[in-house]
Amino acid sequence: MKTQNPKTIAILGGTGKEGKGLAYRWALAGHSIIIGSRTVEKASTAAEEVLTLIGKPSPVRGMENPQAAREADIVVLTVPFSAHKDMLEFIKADVQGKIFVDVTVPLVPPKVTKVQMPAEGSAAQQAQSILGENVRVVAAFQNISYENLLSGEEVDCDVLVTGSDKDARAEVLALVGDTGLFGLDAGPIENSVVVEGLTSILIGINKQFGVHASGIRITGISR
Ligand SMILES: NC(=O)c1ccc[n+]([C@@H]2O[C@H](COP(=O)([O-])OP(=O)(O)OC[C@H]3O[C@@H](n4cnc5c(N)ncnc54)[C@H](OP(=O)(O)O)[C@@H]3O)[C@@H](O)[C@H]2O)c1
Repeated sequence: MKTQNPKTIAILGGTGKEGKGLAYRWALAGHSIIIGSRTVEKASTAAEEVLTLIGKPSPVRGMENPQAAREADIVVLTVPFSAHKDMLEFIKADVQGKIFVDVTVPLVPPKVTKVQMPAEGSAAQQAQSILGENVRVVAAFQNISYENLLSGEEVDCDVLVTGSDKDARAEVLALVGDTGLFGLDAGPIENSVVVEGLTSILIGINKQFGVHASGIRITGISR
């Protein structure tokens, strides 16, 4: 679905699985994508991989994380939870005044099927606490497997969007729609604990059923 409102979106840690999946979907929708990495070489390689998937010239570039964050309208974070806190401190100054979409799930190996939240309440609340009030943190996409994103096909999973600022949630819900998924406003950032926790449950279900990408659907609503 082509967007009516193209943005420049930086995906920090976008060289990974989930980041590339989101980059692919948003680039297809007509957004300008900056893939962020600790090294510009890795960022450029990932950008090339996404361009190959798209198969036509598109605005997808690679940069180091801080520069990517500075140049973007909206910043997305897709790093393992073990890197979450340090990354937030590192790019704090570069994201002030922006919408910051946290995709991080606080998985703590080896028990990734067990919900283990940080002291702040959730990964998104940790992000809000570190980045400060001038950054509008929104949590989204924690339940969507990268395989579903990269398939390019319709995804049998909804996206629950949480965050303290209603307008920021609405902006991110529009970005969810641009990926071709169905998003729902799931309320304030405190509710992100439920959404992040669901991922551990889905990983457990994946194991039980021998699949890679189980998901969630909200029923009883008109779509
Ligand atoms: N994979 C999924 O299907 C999925 C689904 C939903 C949510 N998530 C969540 O999304 C996040 C990313 O998942 P992923 O599977 O994409 O992870 P990943 O592929 O393991 O890592 C993503 C990127 O994080 C960066 N990174 C790794 N360690 C770092 C460190 N110490 N400091 C700074 N950057 C570091 C790396 O980028 P550079 O080396 O280029 O810097 C790496 O390419 C996780 O929190 C995960 O729980 C994943």
